[in-house]
Amino acid sequence: MKTVVSGIRPTGHLHLGNYYGALQNFVRMQHDAKCYFFIADYHSLTTHPDPVHLHENVTNALAEYLAAGLDPQTATIYIQSDVPQVAELSLLLSMHAYIGELERTASFKEKIRKHPENINAGLLCYPVLMASDILIHRADFVPVGKDQEQHLEMTRKFARRFNTIYGVEYFPESMPYNFGRELTKVPGLDGSGKMGKSEGNGIYLADTDEIIRKKVMKAVTDQGPTEPNQPMAEPIANIFAIMKIVSAPETYGHFLDEYNTCRIRYGDMKKQLAEDIIKVVSPIRERIAQIKSRETYLGEVVAHGAQKARESADETMRCVREIMGIKRF
Ligand code: ADP
Ligand code: TRP
Repeated sequence: MKTVVSGIRPTGHLHLGNYYGALQNFVRMQHDAKCYFFIADYHSLTTHPDPVHLHENVTNALAEYLAAGLDPQTATIYIQSDVPQVAELSLLLSMHAYIGELERTASFKEKIRKHPENINAGLLCYPVLMASDILIHRADFVPVGKDQEQHLEMTRKFARRFNTIYGVEYFPESMPYNFGRELTKVPGLDGSGKMGKSEGNGIYLADTDEIIRKKVMKAVTDQGPTEPNQPMAEPIANIFAIMKIVSAPETYGHFLDEYNTCRIRYGDMKKQLAEDIIKVVSPIRERIAQIKSRETYLGEVVAHGAQKARESADETMRCVREIMGIKRF
């Protein structure tokens, strides 16, 4: 049976990008593979060291995972910091990660640009910690969005390097997974770039119907095409990209045809898109509210998850220590 691992940082409510990029794919795989899904709270500390809100963010993420369809009976759902073996593996793998390659990582360079006041060593080593999350369970597949492609490449590089240095075939080549398709990138509603928590351009799984309608109606557009089959400007292409992911193929085809024949009315398209998003989000939102109120249940889920994740992690660390020559007296 294949092993699948994925995680999301608890830095705010989950948005449609997290849902379509990672979570939904994971949910679809959870009954056919050995699945580990975790809340990456160590990773969130690289940018959000916030002791007042951390636990609340973790609770929200957990309730949102479960509401989106993660099944704690089949998948192992846990909190990263409940499995300290991940931190140990990260330390050991960091001995074979080179400063130059870490400095060249796109996500690190972006963080330097956006937050020059907080360029910490945790950020630099982010890909090593992520590789440890994946390799601690020796994952075959990792369902993630397109923005994580480079981190996955680095994970494979670290795994191969470990195998080569120690002359073993221990770590697998963990592959990003999207059911044989290109990895998903859900764009934002502000005309450029991906939907993200920090970008403030997202639709959240906890948003009310009214908020969703407002956000979609405010999405950036242009004056409309003036000639048939005119190439789309980025904001328009982004709205079509979201519609392609969320709406029925006929709906998407209909508006594409309207665009290509210059008959499109963006207002109509946005109304349709908002309703299609609501169809996905509103049942999840209702479940979020119910699940969040069940504190004892949430505690049981993560306690059970931590125990199962630690068993798998312990086995890996036993082998890694042996391979590296760390012996007990
Ligand atoms: P964010 O980028 O919103 O801070 P994370 O970095 O914690 O969220 O991402 C968690 C998962 O969600 C990753 O697998 C990531 O690839 C996916 N993801 C985030 N944003 C998008 C997006 N706009 N489109 C597709 N996948 C996304
Ligand atoms: N880096 C991922 C993100 O920001 C979150 C993450 C941490 C992750 N560890 C992981 C995703 C392991 C998949 C597997 O999106």
